[in-house]
Amino acid sequence: MEANIKEWTDKIKEINNNKTKKFSIMTMGCQLNENDSEKLCGIVDQAGYKKTDNLEEADLILFNTCCVRENAEDKLFGKLGEVKKYKEQKGTIIAIGGCMMQEKHIVHKLNESYPFVDIIFGTHTLENFPKDLYNAIVEKKKIEDILDIDGIVYEGVPTYREDKIKASVPIMNGCNNFCTYCIVPFVRGRERSRNPQDIINEVEDLAKQGYKEITLLGQNVNSYLVSQKQKGEDVDFRVVANGEEMTVNSFATLLIALDKIKGIERIRFVSPHPKDFTDDVIDAIANSKNICKLIHLPLQSGSTEILKRMNRKYTKEEYLKLAERISGRIPDVTFSTDIIVGFPGETEEDFEDTLDVVSKVNFEQVYMFIYSRRVGTPADKMENQVPEEIKHKRFDRLKKLAEEMIEIRNKEYIGTYQKVLVEGTSKTNSSILTGRTESNKVVNFEGSENLIGKMVNLKIISEHMWYLKGSCDTIQNV
Ligand code: SAH
Ligand code: SF4
Ligand code: F3S
Repeated sequence: MEANIKEWTDKIKEINNNKTKKFSIMTMGCQLNENDSEKLCGIVDQAGYKKTDNLEEADLILFNTCCVRENAEDKLFGKLGEVKKYKEQKGTIIAIGGCMMQEKHIVHKLNESYPFVDIIFGTHTLENFPKDLYNAIVEKKKIEDILDIDGIVYEGVPTYREDKIKASVPIMNGCNNFCTYCIVPFVRGRERSRNPQDIINEVEDLAKQGYKEITLLGQNVNSYLVSQKQKGEDVDFRVVANGEEMTVNSFATLLIALDKIKGIERIRFVSPHPKDFTDDVIDAIANSKNICKLIHLPLQSGSTEILKRMNRKYTKEEYLKLAERISGRIPDVTFSTDIIVGFPGETEEDFEDTLDVVSKVNFEQVYMFIYSRRVGTPADKMENQVPEEIKHKRFDRLKKLAEEMIEIRNKEYIGTYQKVLVEGTSKTNSSILTGRTESNKVVNFEGSENLIGKMVNLKIISEHMWYLKGSCDTIQNV
């Protein structure tokens, strides 16, 4: 369904007398949350607002929130205390959206303690934002626009991307998995997949604009179209990709179609669920030209008992076998993962199982999290919550092992040639260029700025834990 945005952005321009206004945005969550922020930026840009990082000069301050772990809440409430003065001084409009706004106790707290907030909107009502903003300006009354039911997947929302080389493209919304620690299914609703032709059109358009890398987003990308199938809907979509007609009816066939698009040199996807990693997806990656041979395979825990209580639906052995099966079929494949430490009831033995998996699978990157209790999730009500001190000690031990393993892995890169997509200059030194390997490792090297946006072949000369250094003598365009 097409979103009705233009009508409202035109009205906003009119009441602002076509004067350019300024806005600031704070994005607090995952890549899907970032993509939503790009849509919010696209909407307000169309309404005549230009971005500023200086909160003091903003006419509109937007927060796009996350609630997957507790620290996100502290961050939001801290920032709100800070922006209150701008509201008082110059009537800045304050709008808060995103996952945390789907939590009733948070909205209650906002209404009680932060009454100066103008607009509160949720994950299912992002497309209403221009209408909400218009009403907040005109009627000067507080707006709460939150839906408990799953919103429609809208197309045609303007998207403003700051990055001109890499872009993310959502392929589905929501999650049906209900891992017992996780709030996401409660705040993002059930799985809804986008129509494959809409995804293909968006990627073809990005390729035309010069984008080189695409990351497909979803909470569980490998169940793309599965919920439609389960409802008995016909999911054999005839699509056209790069002028070629084909059928897309699964995640694997979507990958095959996107791999045909000219100009896109890298396709990544996050996150697949190990329980749904089917052989057709492995084959699609193995036979592809552009799909990166780095697979993010969230482990969460290495203990079969904990995995069971997390409702992950795989065992330690099944995870290890899957990693082996993928490695067997895709030469040079690499892995990254997410791990939670200190899930309720996690014993020393359980934790050692996690360490065991980390020592067996040579992960390129391990994203580690301390278990955080989330109101409304089953794990929050479990007995045997692990004391904070033990959680932190385990986290430090996991971090030490993961870093040792990453260092060993990094050393294997030294002396090899790697294709690096050059993204820009280094944040800390503008005479150094930075890019990433297919396995998503950062590579810094000296080179001229005209290489930005190009794929180059670099010899790796040293490793520094969070980045590799490439040699400037060996640059070849590829
Ligand atoms: N859908 C994705 C990502 C979900 S959120 C997936 O299934 O992989 C990203 C990561 O946050 C999760 O993989 C998990 O490791 C972590 N996470 C989720 N809930 C958490 C919680 N309550 N405490 C700590 N970490 C959590
Ligand atoms: Fe959360 Fe699990 Fe869904 Fe990922 S798969 S979003 S961890 S419930
Ligand atoms: Fe993402 Fe946080 Fe929502 S991880 S889906 S922004 S709860």
